[in-house]
Amino acid sequence: MTPFRIRERLKELLGLTPSKAARDTAAPSPRREKVTLVLVDGDGNEQTYDGGAEDSPLFISGNMKKPIGSGCNDSTCATCRIEVLEGAENLSPQDDRERNTLKENGHPEDWRLGCRVSIMQGTVKVRAHEFLEL
Ligand code: FES
Repeated sequence: MTPFRIRERLKELLGLTPSKAARDTAAPSPRREKVTLVLVDGDGNEQTYDGGAEDSPLFISGNMKKPIGSGCNDSTCATCRIEVLEGAENLSPQDDRERNTLKENGHPEDWRLGCRVSIMQGTVKVRAHEFLEL
């Protein structure tokens, strides 16, 4: 725990975790299927964390020591781009906005946006290119 919960507050402000107010007012949701994100960095180091079905990799990585980097709130910057190494079949389909953002930023069309895609089931292993340094 960092002094004054700085790390937790920073994650809330960046939208990586729901704010305490949102957590306190959220209606109890039906139990969702567990999904697992395995996040690989450029050195091959892996971090693993579980989330709920339909969570985005960006959201789940907010619980990791080294979360995926992000730079916008509208899926336009591609900072959160990820390469899917395993489990592509467990992801939501790519929509036009995701496809256009990857293309406009010069990234391969089979990469995904960590903020846009959802893990629907099972385990997904991805490599991120930018990380949030806390
Ligand atoms: S955070 Fe900007 S596209 Fe995902």
